[in-house]
Order: sequence, then C-alpha cells, then structure tokens
Amino acid sequence: MADRMIFQIPSRVICGEGCVDQIGQEARQLGASKVLVVTDKNIAAAGLLDEILDSLRKSGLNLDVFDRGEPDPSVDLVNEGTAIVREQKADLLIAVGGGSNIDAAKGISIAATNSRPIVDYEGPEKFENQPLPILAVPTTAGTGSEITFFAVITDTQRNYKFLIWSPRIAPRAAFLDPRMVGTAPRRVKVAAGMDALTHAIESFISKAANVYTETCALKAIELIAANFRKMLEDPDDRDAAMSMLIAANIAGFSFANAKLGIVHAMALPLSAIYHIPHGEANSVLLPFGLDFNKTAAAHKYQRMGEALGLSRCEPADVVRAVRQLATDVGAPQAMAPLGVEASSFDKMVSDAMKSGHVAVNPRTIHPEDMMAIYQAAL
Ligand SMILES: [Fe+2]
Repeated sequence: MADRMIFQIPSRVICGEGCVDQIGQEARQLGASKVLVVTDKNIAAAGLLDEILDSLRKSGLNLDVFDRGEPDPSVDLVNEGTAIVREQKADLLIAVGGGSNIDAAKGISIAATNSRPIVDYEGPEKFENQPLPILAVPTTAGTGSEITFFAVITDTQRNYKFLIWSPRIAPRAAFLDPRMVGTAPRRVKVAAGMDALTHAIESFISKAANVYTETCALKAIELIAANFRKMLEDPDDRDAAMSMLIAANIAGFSFANAKLGIVHAMALPLSAIYHIPHGEANSVLLPFGLDFNKTAAAHKYQRMGEALGLSRCEPADVVRAVRQLATDVGAPQAMAPLGVEASSFDKMVSDAMKSGHVAVNPRTIHPEDMMAIYQAAL
C-alpha cells in the first residue's frame, strides 16, 4: 500500500494584473465590517495601498491602517497591532507587503482572539480560538507567506526567531498582482527571489515531499530560472513579475506541506542575531546546503538540473548553476561581509539544531555538520 499523503492549501489564490480591485468584495464575502490593513510605511509611500483602500471603501467597509510593519516582525509589534485590533474591534486583517508584514498579520490574528502572550503559541497548533481571517497581498516574490500556515516572529529579548504553525492562520485569499512587485528596491527583490528558490529546492528534496509538492516545487524552479533575471532587468516586465509571483506562491504550496531543510534551519539564527534579511541568509547558505545533501538525494538533482535548464545535471552542475544564478542577480554569497563573526557559531548551531526543518532534511544533520558549513560560508 502506498504511503499516506496529505496536501492542503486552505487559501484561495486570485492572480492577474489589477486583481487587487477585488479585495473589498472578497472581504465583504467573508462577512467583514471593520478591517485593519497591516503594512509598513514604505508600502504606503510607494502608493501601493491606494487601490486596495479604494476597493475596501467602495465595498462599504470601515478601515484603519497599521503601518508600523518591520523586517523580522517582533513580539512588540504583534502586541501593538493586537491592541489596535481590540480597540477598533476589527474583524478582518489585510496584510500588504513582504513576508514580514504578512507574518506580523498572522501573529496579530492569533493574539487578537487568544489570551496568552504570543510566545506561548510557538510550535504546532498551540492556540485555542479561531484567529481573525486574513487577506494577503504580497509585494515581493517572495516568501509564499500569502498562502502558508507559518508565522515567524522574533523574540528580541532572546535574539530568537520562533515559528507558529497552523493551517488556521493561512490567509483566506491571496491576491497576486504583478503591479505590486515593481517598486521594491532591487536588494529586496533579490533576497525575496532567492528565498523562493530556496523554498522550492529544499522542499523538493525534503524527506516529507510527495508528488503534489514535487510538482509545485519543480515548476517553481523552472519559472525562477526563466524569469528572475528578467524581472530584475526590467521592472516593467509584468509577465516576468507575474511568473515570479506564481513561482513564489507554488513554492509556498510545496514547502507548506513538505517543509524545508538545512538551509532554512541555519538561516534563522543569522536573522535573529545579526538581523540579516531572511532571503540573504538563504542565498549565502543555499549552495552549501545543496552540496551537503547531494549524497542523500542524488536522484532528485537530475530533475532539478532539468528544471534549471541545464544540459548536464550532475549534483555538482546543479550547485554550480545555483551559484551562478546568485552571482547574476547579485545575491550575497558569504557571511562575513554581512557582519557575521565566528564567535557566534556555537549559539547559531545550537539554535539551528532546534529547527523543525532538521528532521525532514534528506541527509541526517549533526551539529558538527552545521559548524563546518558556517565555517565554510564565513
Ligand atoms: Fe524562507
């Protein structure tokens, strides 16, 4: 009998240029009357909220904007947003931004309807009450957070990023509009695209992968290989932007179900301790993680090589192609230039080993393996 497989994506996905004009209608259908838009000042300044707010008003919804979003959303930020939700009696959240704003909204959605501090909900399904519904508009391509069931929140007191897992925090709908991703700074686009590539690759070779996740992951790799450079070269190339948004989204389908691996486990402490953007931490570690895993997942490297468009698909060719893509887009490839010091390695290894991604990595990971990778990636 075949192994049991589970694949779930609780979100609706609405794609296409201009699709954010449907957001008011979608909020109405969910029974909302008062919405809080969770975003940041850069998004507001770039004018990305205008059409969204317009659509909400046209649908007769009351709204407030919480624009204090920050990279690596903190417990304090979640508490601040939660206080506003309670004060305004908001019944739906609209997250507009990169993964950080969407994760902040997820944290707020839980804290708003549950009584304990957000840190108590670390791990799978730890909260009792149904969180507030969320609609998500990603402005990077991206984290996939617009459809995943994770929120990563930073506890600044412990310099520790923790993960909350529950399908109940998946946004009810995601709006993939290519016009929303053109204005981000190049460095943000690069980090987001490298994060999406890392999601696709790690979930493809994960021990928890199945035919559904593999199909999404391979297609995401193919779309990223074909469109990442184009999207960066021409910010007005809507087809490339749409393809990258879809790639990031379906990489999210894959990793939400198949989890990730050594790269994400080891990237978390880089952001928690040194505040390195998540996608940049992944960029540096991805070729090392791919090299580490090639003995355990060699047969899958052939298929990844094909998706990357390579004529030779040996594991070394795949590692080289990923390094080349990182070079072409200008992604960071070493930790020292990002401020990392070897004196933190013990804490970094200890924190990384606690990640849930360690268990599904295709090759068994020992602390000394992580130490060797950190040393090589410095
Ligand atoms: Fe990620």
